Amino acid sequence: NIYSTSKSQVSPVRDPESQLARLAKAGSEMVRSQRQKHERSMQARNASNIEGSILGKIMGQSKREAAVTTTAVKRVKERKLSREEILAQRQSLPAFAMREKILSTIRENQVVIVIGETGSGKTTQLTQFLAADGYARHGVIACTQPRRVAAMSVAARVSVEMGVKLGEEVGYSIRFENETSEKTIIKYMTDGILLQESLNDPLLDRYSCIIIDEAHERALNTDIILGLLKRVLARRTDLKLIVTSATINANRFSSFFGGSPLLKIEGRTFPVTSNHLLTMPDDHVAASVKQVLSIHLQQAAGDILVFMTGQEDIEATCSILAEKVQAMENAKPLEILPIYSQLPADLQARVFLPATPGARKVIVATNIAETSLTVDGIRYVIDGGLAKIKVYNSRLGVDTFQVVPISQANAAQRAGRAGRTSEGFCYRMYTADAEKNAMFPQTIPEIQRTNLANTMLTLKALNVDEIYDFDFLDPPESSSVSSSLYELWALGALDSEGKLTELGLKLSRFPMDPYMARLIVSGVECNCLDEMLSIVSMMSVPNVFIRSAERAKESDTARERFLVAESDHLTLLNVYSQWLAFGKSDHWATEHFLHSKSLRRAHETRQQLVKLARSSFGIKNVEKAKSLDDVRRCVCSGYFHQAARTKGLQTYQGIRNNVVMKIHPTSALYGLGSLPEYIVYHELILTSQQYMTVVTAVDPEWLLEDGKALYTADEHFVPAIEDSQQKKAQPVFKKSKSSNFRAKKKFMKGV
Ligand code: CDP
Ligand code: MG
Repeated sequence: NIYSTSKSQVSPVRDPESQLARLAKAGSEMVRSQRQKHERSMQARNASNIEGSILGKIMGQSKREAAVTTTAVKRVKERKLSREEILAQRQSLPAFAMREKILSTIRENQVVIVIGETGSGKTTQLTQFLAADGYARHGVIACTQPRRVAAMSVAARVSVEMGVKLGEEVGYSIRFENETSEKTIIKYMTDGILLQESLNDPLLDRYSCIIIDEAHERALNTDIILGLLKRVLARRTDLKLIVTSATINANRFSSFFGGSPLLKIEGRTFPVTSNHLLTMPDDHVAASVKQVLSIHLQQAAGDILVFMTGQEDIEATCSILAEKVQAMENAKPLEILPIYSQLPADLQARVFLPATPGARKVIVATNIAETSLTVDGIRYVIDGGLAKIKVYNSRLGVDTFQVVPISQANAAQRAGRAGRTSEGFCYRMYTADAEKNAMFPQTIPEIQRTNLANTMLTLKALNVDEIYDFDFLDPPESSSVSSSLYELWALGALDSEGKLTELGLKLSRFPMDPYMARLIVSGVECNCLDEMLSIVSMMSVPNVFIRSAERAKESDTARERFLVAESDHLTLLNVYSQWLAFGKSDHWATEHFLHSKSLRRAHETRQQLVKLARSSFGIKNVEKAKSLDDVRRCVCSGYFHQAARTKGLQTYQGIRNNVVMKIHPTSALYGLGSLPEYIVYHELILTSQQYMTVVTAVDPEWLLEDGKALYTADEHFVPAIEDSQQKKAQPVFKKSKSSNFRAKKKFMKGV
């Protein structure tokens, strides 16, 4: 047994931080291959000659390929099913058989918990049952999803089933994208949107029924919404709440709502045979590729679903697979389709299309395909056993992305995806021992492992003053609550008694984390709102740079032309401004290896933000900055808590936490001969190293000004100067210990 943790040590989650540490330790073998991951994806990116690789096909899109994609998407859009066909499909779903039972239980109870296998029709049918039963007469029927992709794709599906135009009777609302109208009676939305709406409409009066879908995922916003709804339900006896969950672990929800009835949709599932490896693989990508090829060459027809950790792994898997299949003679065609949340929507849609006759489809997905998306026809599942999750380390005060082993519950869910339409097979890229000993029975709820600053701000804005009194499904770690409150205080969003300040109220109105919102508020204060809005918008859309494997050199050169040496934020601003200057031309964007879709999304987002900024601040003109230095100054105000100082040799050290970090290879600052002394960064990615993404050079005085609460200058502190010898001798400012200690202590007492 290569793992040090044994199952008997696993106890109910009380101390998530140490649990996570243990988890990380236990999973270190499983994660080992991550070390090669980064290099691999960089190789994939730079390999100029992987002809016809999937990366080339999807990212680079030659004209012919683009045409194929467009036709495929058209086929989805135009796939007109007759009313009879649609009805037949709906009636074959397990949920349909339960229709009357579900409706009568809802009529008699305010809260109902519905559980059922993935694909049984919970998400697509419940809303329609409720609408047909008259619930839309006095309000909208809402259905929340933890994932944006699911909200969009399900709304599209339901609009087809109801024969209406998407955005009219059936619509969806996700951050910065609202496809609803006056006519909307069924609204799919992310749980974050519902939370945001409750700021203006605390009793959620516009809704007659709320379905909280995928509650088993225990996403942060789902948990918070459930806690809020408990209060709302007492005051709105007419409101119906349905909580759906894919696992049998639904008793939790039932007891949370005082013993509400549990309905199980019995579905037809087929047996799935699971196979484990005998030894742990060195590299889960290579192991999975090998397994795909073995199935493809030797096993009966049926599509394959591969679970990977994230975009980089998925791209690597797809490109290696494409290469290998192409090198094989006499192999049947294999259609390789990636899916992850940042993939543009039309490419995501391809996953749902049946494979071309004679070909086999392999879908390479993140855990997005575990429960929220149902793809028919999957017979083989390959489970890499890992997932990338966001983990907040309250001691270091940073959010990081980490690859950790999935839970046993996740593993069972993944396997289940193979047995929807016929008997299936699941190949687990880990040993049976590892499953038993290195995986937790259940996933740790997000509330116990992420940064809560945003959530705490929202709760404060909802007048939930006593955070500790809030009814949590599982309470967050108190150290994480207090460090989030401390961060909000340092940002100026809370006063020293823990009360929301005027600034805090402003920040809470923006649907983004308070630091990003701070950029917009600073934009108003420093007269560069125009630039800040563009930067924030560009930060909230998928990567705009196309990385083409087929034309690696060209795409790299194209990217380099946009780089602003001292700032990735300014680089993004530069891209956006140029795109505007060239008339928002798609042609221009493609020519410069930019995703025009992302640019247009950024543009739409910006328009929404302008409206929001106008209504929040009552401003008339969106002012432009006098110089780019002013813009950088402003960027600092939202990121001062994530600052680092150079240590030489292309490495940096976090000022607050002393973590040693490198600049991510996609950054404009990567590989610069002389690196700026102080920088701020957007996110930290943990692979074998810590990489900072989206970085901007800052002046130390700015950090001292913005981060008064966090930093203090040494007595001999002098601003950065040119002479490198002096630089070394110069005392640095460091994490504030003494001067703000009392203030912090007072603050902590206050909350
Ligand atoms: O929510 P649950 O997992 O219980 O099932 P669902 O999402 O309501 O899916 C029911 C059926 O609708 C499945 O058989 C899917 O194939 C189909 N569906 C679809 O074709 N396209 C979508 N975007 C969503 C669902
Ligand atoms: Mg569902």
